[in-house]
Amino acid sequence: MAKAKKKAKAKAKAAAKKPARKVVKLAARKPAKKAAAKKANGNGASLPRPSNKPYGQAGKALDGVRILDFTHVQSGPTCTQLLAWFGADVIKVERPGVGDITRGQLVDVKGADSLYFTMLNHNKRSITIDSKHPQGKRVLNELIKKCDVLVENFAPGALDRMGLTWEHINKLNPRMIVASVKGFGPGPYEDCKVYENVAQCAGGSASTTGFRDGPPLVTGAQIGDSGTGLHLALGIVAALYQRNRTGRGQKVLCAMQDGVLNLARVKLRDQQRLQHGPLTEYSQYGEGIPFHDTVPRAGNDSGGGQPGWILKCKGAPEDPNAYIYFITQAPVWGAICDLIGEPAWKTDPEYATPRARLPKLKKIFARIEEWTMTKSKFEVMEICNKVDIPVGPILSMKEIAEEESLRKTGTVVEVDHPKRGKYLTVGNPIKMSDSISEVKRSPLLGEHTDEILSDVLGFKAAEVAEIKNSGALSAPAKEEKAA
Ligand code: COA
Repeated sequence: MAKAKKKAKAKAKAAAKKPARKVVKLAARKPAKKAAAKKANGNGASLPRPSNKPYGQAGKALDGVRILDFTHVQSGPTCTQLLAWFGADVIKVERPGVGDITRGQLVDVKGADSLYFTMLNHNKRSITIDSKHPQGKRVLNELIKKCDVLVENFAPGALDRMGLTWEHINKLNPRMIVASVKGFGPGPYEDCKVYENVAQCAGGSASTTGFRDGPPLVTGAQIGDSGTGLHLALGIVAALYQRNRTGRGQKVLCAMQDGVLNLARVKLRDQQRLQHGPLTEYSQYGEGIPFHDTVPRAGNDSGGGQPGWILKCKGAPEDPNAYIYFITQAPVWGAICDLIGEPAWKTDPEYATPRARLPKLKKIFARIEEWTMTKSKFEVMEICNKVDIPVGPILSMKEIAEEESLRKTGTVVEVDHPKRGKYLTVGNPIKMSDSISEVKRSPLLGEHTDEILSDVLGFKAAEVAEIKNSGALSAPAKEEKAA
């Protein structure tokens, strides 16, 4: 019995070893497959040969991607404008007779779309569709089948109320990515309508902006709207990339509260640092004012470890922008002392180290300001940058509009519009060497309705006439009744 058991064990061992030997043999035969894997990208899909075309002439990054743009106001349009600049065909669906509400907001030229609208909707096509009309639904369903991404920033539930639920869209086109901006993610506020400043307040930005002895402040930069639009664009591009592997679409959601918090993350960092002692780089520390249990407003303190402040230059305060942001970066402390005429501070133990300087920042910046006030902000910029001192002139929007270098890079662009004439806009801030953005004017309301119906959706003339006669693409029935 014992012998038989031993034999059986030995056989089992040998059997167990056999596959291992086979694996080794197979592995040894693999070099050809390995060479193929080298050509593969991160998705395992093989890449085409590098193009021979000159850079900038091999099409655009998102060529071939079609976007069903159901966005309005600022957050969503920022996102789809970026995608259009990268080459996507963006079809903006607008309510007949009205369009995106911003067309008529802050109007400066009578009879022309506002700058609010034109500056957020470049490079797009516009079609008017009443999404609640049966024929409008028919057109939308066809568009869903023909597009890769649907982007929307309606109030919570509005898309579902149009009948465009995720299930409906996914059934019509399982490859479609449905991207949404909402004010809040799932939670107590998910049903709220949200605008820019609501998001700035709910995302932690306002409580940490402004001066300690003043109220919370919102910033001029549209971090809630445009910031979230940027986040959403990244989510869409990532989802398109993943679709190359999975073949299917997915939902992409960016809540404005989350977007703002992401941009204010250094303040959540400071919230946690507070548990371990005062925030020594905040000027409040140097002034001997105790910290409470939440991150305070820090005026113009720098958000990083290098103290900074806004200082007057020649012409201030009469010129409201004759100021410069000055950073007392530790490695250039010696150069700062030489410039402002305090060479002794380089070796004086009261000033020589960043730690020694922290409680005296107010006095130090006052001394630096005595020097900056003798120069224009541009002179300070030139002198300081020569010795690597980081400074930032406070540029007015007028100065930015006139700045030659921004025109050259296409960051500030002049665009011609049939109804308003020439105007300035901000071009694509993301520069790519092989996908170069040209800024084309925003569409007039419904300007491309016909071409989209026939060229994109392939409707025959009789079908186009039927849809048009139904009233689905013209001013809403309610208004017609009223008239
Ligand atoms: N045809 C027919 N109806 C249309 C339409 C079309 N082409 N386009 C929009 N509508 C309807 C919607 O279906 C909705 O109707 P419903 O309420 O009966 O469902 C209605 O227009 C209003 O849409 P809504 O999104 O609620 O607009 P609003 O002006 O009341 O609210 C916001 C504006 C921005 C506050 C809201 O859209 C929102 O909270 N969006 C998400 C957050 C966001 O992006 N905020 C920042 C904007 S910059």
